Amino acid sequence: MSEDSLRLRRAATYDVDYLLALQAEADVAPFLSAGRADTREELLAEVERSLAEPEAFGRFLIEIPFGQEWRVAGAIGFECVNRRSRIAHVSGLAAHPDFRGRGLGAAAIRELARLLFGELGYHRLEAGVYGFNERGLAVVDSAGFVREGVKRRAYCPHGEWVDAVELGLLVEDFEVDA
Ligand SMILES: CC(C)(COP(=O)(O)OP(=O)(O)OC[C@H]1O[C@@H](n2cnc3c(N)ncnc32)[C@H](O)[C@@H]1OP(=O)(O)O)[C@@H](O)C(=O)NCCC(=O)NCCS
Repeated sequence: MSEDSLRLRRAATYDVDYLLALQAEADVAPFLSAGRADTREELLAEVERSLAEPEAFGRFLIEIPFGQEWRVAGAIGFECVNRRSRIAHVSGLAAHPDFRGRGLGAAAIRELARLLFGELGYHRLEAGVYGFNERGLAVVDSAGFVREGVKRRAYCPHGEWVDAVELGLLVEDFEVDA
């Protein structure tokens, strides 16, 4: 799938229940950051921040065409982590299990990168993936990110210390690839 066959729609407050249900899916929850917003109130606060500070923070629905309409298939987000050096952290990628296996995740990352580099002027994107999440790593790799290092046994999301693989994408990587 290419990024031309999906769109990212900035989440509205009425999307909070969808986001909550998606991240609670059995094949999504263990792979997302254990420190994510995980109550309705926290997610609502994130969506409101995304609407109020669109250049610094984003919560998006991934949508794919369905007849004349768009159907929600997943979610993705970003946060500015260094304004001076124009660095954003990409997080919260999830494809609903009904829409897996067609490259939606990598295409959504590419579409977000197009927005962050092309429209919002970021220079570098970063992502962190739990070392055990081989599928997540394959997706971020295939979106063009470069593995930059491993934070050894950094987090304890489910009662056991796990590595986090750190990846980065520069605007020039993206232009070369695009
Ligand atoms: C990550 C996620 C969005 C990917 O969904 P998707 O885009 O439908 O992924 P696909 O099934 O098309 O597979 C994408 C790639 O992963 C590979 N892959 C799939 N399952 C895999 C596995 N168990 N181990 C290793 N690689 C795997 C595929 O071969 C494919 O590789 P390719 O791009 O080189 O062809 C989805 O699995 C998800 O929501 N996971 C839970 C949340 C999560 O892990 N988020 C990412 C945190 S970084």
